[in-house]
Amino acid sequence: MPTATIGSTTIHYQQQGTGRAVVFLHGYPLDSRIWDQQVKGLSAVARVIAPDLPGFGKSLPPVRFTVESMADTVHDLLVGIGALPCVLGGLSMGGYIALAFARKYRKDMAGLMLIDTRADADSDQARVARNKSIELVRSAGAEAIADQMLPKLLGDATRSKRPDIVNRLNDILSECHPLTIEYALGALRDRLDQTLFLPNIDVPTLVVVGQHDAITPPAVAQGMRDAIPGAILAVIAGAGHMPPMEQPALFNEAVAGFLRTVQAK
Ligand code: MLT
Repeated sequence: MPTATIGSTTIHYQQQGTGRAVVFLHGYPLDSRIWDQQVKGLSAVARVIAPDLPGFGKSLPPVRFTVESMADTVHDLLVGIGALPCVLGGLSMGGYIALAFARKYRKDMAGLMLIDTRADADSDQARVARNKSIELVRSAGAEAIADQMLPKLLGDATRSKRPDIVNRLNDILSECHPLTIEYALGALRDRLDQTLFLPNIDVPTLVVVGQHDAITPPAVAQGMRDAIPGAILAVIAGAGHMPPMEQPALFNEAVAGFLRTVQAK
């Protein structure tokens, strides 16, 4: 895995292919391994880049961050490795960061992919739940967070028929550094509402959602598609919150189709 040093942080990232840079940002509390099938499967049509965000995966140690500061760090990384302008995609937390990036660095973007994510901020109830999760990770570690999250991340069919994916995701969740989980929960809890920005997005945008996503359901994705001028929506059959892992072929097909329209512009 190549690395890039940004300030005092070493960022590990996966990279394969040549041509248009297509960057995938993982969700919480995950890492770039959720994109393994995209790095491999889309490298024939693009230069695919998937970083372990600072504090996650191999990009240790944990660092305090906000969604906004993470967008700045991703920008620094992409400047550093010569990957701008890019098509930037993010799943869930990665989507919050991709939206912040689009607000700050419009000129460096050729396209945007919002994957199983949302634009609004946490509700009061969700903030209370974040604080409880902070207590949980402090007292019981990453495995307790993995136990709490795993059932919500995957669709029923994946949970019952794909033990390989369940185990892989469980490993990724359990291996996240507890302090990174704590910092991430604070960043997610305190993130800005980006809803009012959606009508201002003027790069080609693909909104993707798993048909059975229980965390950011299809109705949320439809709302974003409706609010973003010209955006298109892909609903991935048979997937929950993790279409890149649960249905990689369908997911990659949707992305490859979108990239063809971006490249044609
Ligand atoms: C994620 O998948 O990144 C999280 O579910 C995001 C969140 O909890 O807001």
